[in-house]
Amino acid sequence: MAKKRALITGITGQDGSYLAEYLLEQGYDVIGMIRRSSTVNFERIHHIQDKVTLVAGDLLDEVSMIHLLREHRPSEVYNLAAQSFVQTSFSQPVFTGEVTGLGVTRILDAVRVVDPGIRFYQASSSEMFGKVQAVPQSETTPFYPRSPYGVAKLYGHWITVNYRESYDMYACSGILFNHESPRRGLEFVTRKITNAVARIKLGKDKELRLGNLDAKRDWGYAKDYVRAMHLMLQQDTADDYVVSTGETYSVRRFCEIAFGHVGLNYQDYVVIDERFYRPAEVDLLVGDPAKANKNLGWKPQVTFEQLVTMMVESDLAANK
Ligand code: NAP
Ligand code: GDD
Repeated sequence: MAKKRALITGITGQDGSYLAEYLLEQGYDVIGMIRRSSTVNFERIHHIQDKVTLVAGDLLDEVSMIHLLREHRPSEVYNLAAQSFVQTSFSQPVFTGEVTGLGVTRILDAVRVVDPGIRFYQASSSEMFGKVQAVPQSETTPFYPRSPYGVAKLYGHWITVNYRESYDMYACSGILFNHESPRRGLEFVTRKITNAVARIKLGKDKELRLGNLDAKRDWGYAKDYVRAMHLMLQQDTADDYVVSTGETYSVRRFCEIAFGHVGLNYQDYVVIDERFYRPAEVDLLVGDPAKANKNLGWKPQVTFEQLVTMMVESDLAANK
C-alpha cells in the first residue's frame, strides 16, 4: 500500500514537532511547511530533520501553498501555523488576524483548488470560549472570545466549517485546550514558570515576574493532544471536537507545584507585574472531552502533576 503523506504547517512549533514525530511513527511521509527567516529555527525538529521534507511557504501567501500542495500531493493537511501568543495579539491585532484568521482561508482555498479530497485539520482553540458561557465547555457551548487571537481563531473555526458544508470537504476543527511540554515557547506561562524555577534553583535568577495568578486553565500534555489531531482525520465523517483533560488549575497552583518540586515556596520568588496583565482576561477554561473520548477513543495519559514536574526536570537539565 502507498505510504500516506501529510503536510504540517507550523512544523517548527511545539505541536508541529510532536505531530511530525507521531506521523513518522505511523509510517507517513511528512512534509513540513516552513517560512523564510534570516536565521534557522529548527531546535524542535533537528532530531528528525533528515526524516521529513521541509518546504518553503507562508500562510500569508496562498500561491506558495498552491505550489507546494501541487508538488507534494499530501492526503492530509494539518494547519498548525499561527501567531499563537495571546498577549502579542493585543499589540499586533491586524497581523494576528492576517495569519491566524485569514491564513486559514488561504490554506483551505489552496486545498480546494488543488484537490478538495485532501483531509484538513484546523488548530482551533479554547480561547474562542473566552468569557465562558457554560462550565465545562463542549462543542455546543457558545463562543465569546476575549482577545484578537481568540477572534481570529473563531474566524478560522467557522471558515473550516463553512468549507466543509459548502464544498463537501473533509475539514475538521479541533478545539484544543491549553497543552504544554518541555518544548513550549518560553513566553507562555507554564514554561516561563518552569524555566524560572530551574534558574532560581540553580542560582541563576532571583525572582519571577508574573501577571494574573488566579486565571484557571485546563492544561494537558502536547504529545497526548497530537494523537487526537490525527484521529480526527481517520473517521468516516469530518466533525469538530473539544480536546481537553476536564480538570482546571490556577496559575498559582502551577507555581506551587513547580516551585515545590525543587523544595522552594513560590511566594518567596514570584513578583506580580502589571505588564503581564491582559486588557481582557479569560478567567476560567475547563473542557468536556466526552465526545472525543467516545467517538475517537481518545484519552489523555499524562496528569497535571506529571506535566508540571516533567517540565521542571527538563528545564533543570537544560539550564545546568
Ligand atoms: P507555536 O509553538 O507558536 O508554533 C506556531 C508555528 O506557526 C511555528 O512553526 C511558526 O513558525 C508557524 N508560523 C507562524 N506564522 C506563520 C506564517 N505566517 N506562515 C507559516 N508558518 C507560520 O504554537 P503551538 O503551541 O505549537 O500551537 C500550534 C497551533 O495550535 C497554533 O495554531 C495555535 O494557535 C493552536 N493552539 C495551541 C494550543 C496550545 O495550548 N499550544 C491550544 C489551542 C490551539 P516559526 O517557527 O517560523 O515562528
Ligand atoms: N504568558 C503569560 N505570562 N501568561 C501569564 C503570566 C505571564 O507572565 N502571568 C499570568 N498569566 C496568565 C495569563 O493571563 C493567562 O490567563 C494564563 O496565564 C495562560 O497564559 P498563556 O500561557 O500565555 O496561555 P493562553 O491561555 O493565553 O493561550 C494559550 O492557550 C490557548 C488555548 O486556550 C496559547 O497556547 C494559545 O495559542 C492557545 O490557543
